[in-house]
Formats: sequence, C-alpha cells, structure tokens
Amino acid sequence: MDTARLHLDPHLSIVGDVGVDLVLGTLDAWPRIGTELLMPRSELRAGGSGANAALAARHIGLNTQLISAVGNDHFGHWLAEQFTGIRCNLEACDRETTISVGLMHACGDRNFFTTHGHLQQLSVQHVLKHLRPTDAPAIALFTAPFLLTELRGRYADLLAEAATRGYRIALDTGWPPEGWTPDVRDEVLTWLPHCDHLLINELEARSIAGTEDLDAALVLIGRELKAGASLVVKVGARGAMGFEAGRRSAHDAEPADIFDTIGAGDAFNAGYLAARLRGGHLAEGLAAGCRTARAILSRFPRKTIRAGEFADCIAA
Ligand SMILES: Nc1ncnc2c1ncn2[C@@H]1O[C@H](COP(=O)(O)OP(=O)(O)OP(=O)(O)O)[C@@H](O)[C@H]1O
Ligand SMILES: [Mg+2]
Repeated sequence: MDTARLHLDPHLSIVGDVGVDLVLGTLDAWPRIGTELLMPRSELRAGGSGANAALAARHIGLNTQLISAVGNDHFGHWLAEQFTGIRCNLEACDRETTISVGLMHACGDRNFFTTHGHLQQLSVQHVLKHLRPTDAPAIALFTAPFLLTELRGRYADLLAEAATRGYRIALDTGWPPEGWTPDVRDEVLTWLPHCDHLLINELEARSIAGTEDLDAALVLIGRELKAGASLVVKVGARGAMGFEAGRRSAHDAEPADIFDTIGAGDAFNAGYLAARLRGGHLAEGLAAGCRTARAILSRFPRKTIRAGEFADCIAA
C-alpha cells in the first residue's frame, strides 16, 4: 500500500454510496396499476449520499475526494464521468450499478425505488488504499453505513483508522433498511465515540437514542461522542441545530420554493464541513450548511450547476 502522506490544502474525503438517480415529478396521487402518467420534470443524475455530498462540495468549490464504488455495466462507466473536478477513487464491482427512481409528490413528499446493485461490494481494502494519511486539515465524511454492507462489519475500526491517518471524523448514519432495532442502536453506539461531527436528522436522533424526547436524545447521544465533538441535527425546512461543548446553537433556513429535496442532508453536510474546515465555529457551520442546501435544492435540473458556483454559501 502507498502510505505516502498527503500534503494538500484543507480537504474533504467522502466514503459513501454512489448510484444512478432518476428523479421524476410530480405526482398528485398514487396511480392505479396498469396506467401510464406523463411527468412534467425529470433528471437522470449521479445520486446516493456520497455522490450528493461530493457534488455539493464541488458546487461550493471545496477540495474533495470521493471514495466509493460503481457497477460493471454501462451506468458504472457513465457514473464515473459525472464527477469532473473531484478526485475519484471508484472501485469497479462485479455487479450491476445500484439504481434509484425517486418520485416527487405534489405534497412535497417522495418515494424511492432502489435496487441493491453494487453498493454491498465496496471493500474496506479499497477505502484504506485511498484514504491516505494526511498532514493537512482534513475531514473524512462517512455516509450510508447501512447500505455499504462490506464496510459495515468493520465500521468502528474504519473510523478509528481514518482518525489515526489524520482525519477529523464526520458521520451521517442515514436510515437502516431493517429499521432501528435494538441491535442497530447498539451498533451505532460503537461508532459514536469516533465521531468529531455527527450529522443526523431529527428522526434519526430520536431513533438512535430510543426516545421520543428530542432534548433527552441529544443529551444521550452527546455523551457518546468524542470529547469536544459537535452534534448536528437537521430539521428540514426549519434549518438545523447544533450542540458542542455544552452549548446549543440553531440556524433557521430561509424559506424557498423547492421541487426536489433529494440530497438535502448531503448538501447541508458539504456546506457545514467546508465551513468547519476553514476554521468556522459551530454557528458558522450551521449557517453555511443551510445556505448550501437551499442553493442546491432550489436548482432543477442540478446538472447545470457549475463548479464553485455556490462558493458564496461558505463565505465567512
Ligand atoms: N424546504 C426546505 N427549504 C429550505 N431549506 C431546506 C428545505 N428542506 C431542507 N432544507 C435544508 O436542508 C437541510 C437538510 O435537510 P433535512 O433536515 O431534510 O436533512 P435529511 O433528513 O438528512 O435529508 P436527506 O433526506 O437528504 O437525508 C436542512 O437543515 C435545511 O437547511
Ligand atoms: Mg439524511
């Protein structure tokens, strides 16, 4: 293994999922079986939380690495072309690429139909080969642990190893397909002591803690994190809250007319972490996260966003 240390500018390394997203909308009501509906809007694009965060990082001009995997079919090749400007290390897996169809409803809700595809095959070996030791200020963002089954079995070790290699650790758990069983909660509790930044939504916070009382959940989760770590809770159109060293902070999101909220949390993560990498405090991170999410979500299709176009979102 090449263990030469990286001497780069502040950078974000993302270890997460990448797949193909076909986003269609909007539906007024769920159709009857056997019918066909014409959708006024659609976009075929790279998706998955790893890809969403990496592209958001590119939109705000952050130096970014994406460590992930693609399938061995046409979509795998196509995906690899969607990340110009991002240092990509995509493991080629001997499976069809994971595909997700996202249907947007007029009420603002959405449904996803997703195949297992290649995601289960991203290997620990591939991640460790490309997550190079660094001397520069760097954050490793780990996303979608529950979908990356090869990594999941050794996740706590992986987080610990990334810290040893010089990275601050950020984790966005996402949602476990099997639900928040007691075993899943115990598993997540083994990951928390490695985290410098835990980036979750309100429902995930309640689920990890196993309580409906959000304040109690935040205290419980906060106790499990690394000393001095930041706990960030994303609350949709309301914005985000943060907790650090016993202090609480919140940022209200600006209202926006948004058709496509896919990747909201990932766009927020990129903006928040970019601000923190630049030395911004918790409150600055929350504000940058909300601005970045709003800017990206307001654009459809997203493919037309240029690298660095939203750099203002993380301006101090
Ligand atoms: N309708 C909205 N208007 C303005 N900002 C929004 C809206 N929805 C989401 N956001 C922004 O996106 C951020 C993340 O959204 P959300 O809280 O839904 O995260 P999430 O549940 O992790 O999302 P995801 O489903 O992508 O995982 C919010 O903190 C907010 O800043
Ligand atoms: Mg999320």
